[in-house]
Amino acid sequence: MIQRVRKAVFPVGGLGTRFLPATKSMPKEMLPVVDKPLIQYAVEEAKAAGIEEFIFVTGRGKTAIEDHFDHSIELENILSSTGRKSEAKLLSELVLEPGQVAYTRQQEPLGLGHAVWCARELVGNEPFAVLLADDLIQAETPCLKQMLTAFYQTSGNIIAVMNVPKQHTARYGIVDMGKETGSLVEVKGLVEKPAPEKAPSTLSVIGRYILLPEIFEYLGQKEKGRGGEIQLTDSMAKLIGNSPFHGFKFEGHRFDCGDKAGFIEANLAFSLSRDDMRDEIFSIIESYK
Ligand code: G1P
Repeated sequence: MIQRVRKAVFPVGGLGTRFLPATKSMPKEMLPVVDKPLIQYAVEEAKAAGIEEFIFVTGRGKTAIEDHFDHSIELENILSSTGRKSEAKLLSELVLEPGQVAYTRQQEPLGLGHAVWCARELVGNEPFAVLLADDLIQAETPCLKQMLTAFYQTSGNIIAVMNVPKQHTARYGIVDMGKETGSLVEVKGLVEKPAPEKAPSTLSVIGRYILLPEIFEYLGQKEKGRGGEIQLTDSMAKLIGNSPFHGFKFEGHRFDCGDKAGFIEANLAFSLSRDDMRDEIFSIIESYK
């Protein structure tokens, strides 16, 4: 019988060099889209998909993330003693349950595959999700929840995928496509960041994964790939053939918040989708025309 997906891994050890100097002393995952840090969107998406254990793979200089999901007694006291109940509620709601959250450190930035491998003891022998907070997905049904439905149908590995312009293949893991059935695409192969002329398709991997624990055997081999880093894509490629492996074309809009323009677009889209902000933001945009 297929095991339930209870755990999610959040690799948050990256240096965030693309956002320097903003990320010199602040984790890039704490960059806000409107009024919420990127990592909170990812955690909320996981919660909405029924995830019960939240595993953060952090690094030096990332303690702000731990503090964000903990109580801030002083702030909570001030807010409640001054009658600002709704703000106090916002803060208390984001505290993760005791024992539901674990932090482990990736001591060296050796790549995404290595970051996920650092979580192996905390994940154990069960399927698990991986969420990259840089990829922010606005969707009616949260992306991970959509993927879980596909996981319980296929009993195999599921990765979120979308088509990108051909000239962008070198930014993503790219799928060598097999049979397509509805939203599911059989994955025959995977290549990390190929040049457009070498890319097997334009179907790219977006930062949401549901993986079987066998992945840890391959990650443990610590083979270096693209950019001299231990790539998650390379170990996923080795899983193909052992267990079902599908790309899942999710419904929703993905914003690349690892990129400045994508991050600004996310701020515009999320503020325009809020009743309390839409009109004001529209008139600001109009004034720049
Ligand atoms: C990572 C993965 C890549 C994937 C991308 C999605 O790359 O290595 O396969 O397509 O996330 O955002 P990064 O953006 O961390 O360089």
